[in-house]
Amino acid sequence: MKNILVIGSVGQIGSELTMELRNRYGNDHVVAGYRRTKPSPELAESGPLEVIDATDVARINDVVKKYNIDTIYNLAALLSAVAEANPQAAWNVGANGVYNVLEVAREHNCAVFLPSSIGAFGLSTPLDNTPQDTIQRPGTMYGVTKVAGELLSDYYFKRFGVDTRGVRYPGIISNVTLPGGGTTDYAVEIFYEAVKTGKFTCPLPKGTFLDMMYMPDALDAAIDLMEADPDKLIHRNCFNISAMSFDPEIVFNAVKKYYPDFIMDYDVDKVKQGIAESWPNKMDDSAAREEWGWNPKWDLDRMTQDMLKVIKEKHEKGLI
Ligand code: SER
Repeated sequence: MKNILVIGSVGQIGSELTMELRNRYGNDHVVAGYRRTKPSPELAESGPLEVIDATDVARINDVVKKYNIDTIYNLAALLSAVAEANPQAAWNVGANGVYNVLEVAREHNCAVFLPSSIGAFGLSTPLDNTPQDTIQRPGTMYGVTKVAGELLSDYYFKRFGVDTRGVRYPGIISNVTLPGGGTTDYAVEIFYEAVKTGKFTCPLPKGTFLDMMYMPDALDAAIDLMEADPDKLIHRNCFNISAMSFDPEIVFNAVKKYYPDFIMDYDVDKVKQGIAESWPNKMDDSAAREEWGWNPKWDLDRMTQDMLKVIKEKHEKGLI
């Protein structure tokens, strides 16, 4: 039986991944590590909970020893736009934090899942059908930390045999926890605004194509990769994965199919625009498909229906 530690368990991905891991491996076998934000009652009451800051190596070490942890999912990070506002903190969490996790994993023989991102690419990368192995010269601190994390993870595997694995996530769309300050957040907010106000002001210009994915596929990706046969993995850190690629007009029209009166205008955020334009329009994820069977289940239309249904129910109950 696995004993898992999730660092960053109250974030956008962590809040749902921790619950999914508890469903699959048993509540007592998944420790939710969080820093400042109060965990939801669901997270707090369903299994062990520990305060953990990725920048505090002694604390990670203590928790790993206390629960006999053998697998760490390290989701602690500052998203791209927030990282540009505070690059020093972004480096501390996104690079020093990753180094700390890898050091503890080396010492205690833990497997490590580390998410990278479309942000690990930059303007000199081929942005259409972005290959698995290509130029990575990101122009953001978020991207710099992600490339550092990919390289460190590969190094710890080759040098010390630490079982490191990771994916390059696209923008993740979800209806449980809001993302905090990413460039792709608009693709979440648009669904909330369609239900709540019927109007959305988009911070990215039309024609800005980015890879995206619905949360259930993102959760499956992390767990399936960690369960994959290691003999089949050629890449490890990190696999391109994508489920769809769209620009603001395409997702607007997808929502409009169900909310015909929905309107959208634009007020372009220059920082986010610059970041988005340096990221892939669409990644080639064939290595993930071939090496561990990556196969997303959610397309834009199915995701749109589900997002709108869940958000409408929450809105009617006065939860949002
Ligand atoms: N969703 C992230 C961001 O926009 C990209 O990985 O920062």
